[in-house]
Amino acid sequence: MTLQERIEEYELLVKQIKAMAADETDPVALMANASSLLEEVFGWHWVGFYRVIDNQLIVGPFQGPVACTRIAYNKGVCGTTWAKKETIIVPDVDLFPGHIACSSLSRSEIVVPLFDEKGEVKAVLDIDSKERDAFDETDKKYLELFCQAL
Ligand code: SME
Repeated sequence: MTLQERIEEYELLVKQIKAMAADETDPVALMANASSLLEEVFGWHWVGFYRVIDNQLIVGPFQGPVACTRIAYNKGVCGTTWAKKETIIVPDVDLFPGHIACSSLSRSEIVVPLFDEKGEVKAVLDIDSKERDAFDETDKKYLELFCQAL
């Protein structure tokens, strides 16, 4: 997919998730359809959400192989995203200290935080690729817009 095609796909996805969020308020229902939308377009290895529940991350709706169910604050890429409150791109998971390998096939990943109205992280969007260096600033920009629209 060219950069231009990727941008066009993302712009459509942001519109679609905005339309879905206008009609539905249940977060799990929205996350379920959001992970399906992203997987259908990009075919990533794993795409899904971890929700902050009782001060830990618990796996939510996703597409892909079985994943770790719980991740502690500041652990792995997801827990670090929660602690830092910012998107993290990991070009090579083998070089990220403390990466949690739910699937040995994951080579790179991006994790994007979702915020509540008080600015606290309520969930993270975690996307894993079998390719190294699969995510860049374009993915960060549009996935952040996508998460804001949720
Ligand atoms: N990549 C995550 C673990 C979750 S699985 O990849 C689905 C991490 O290190 O936070």
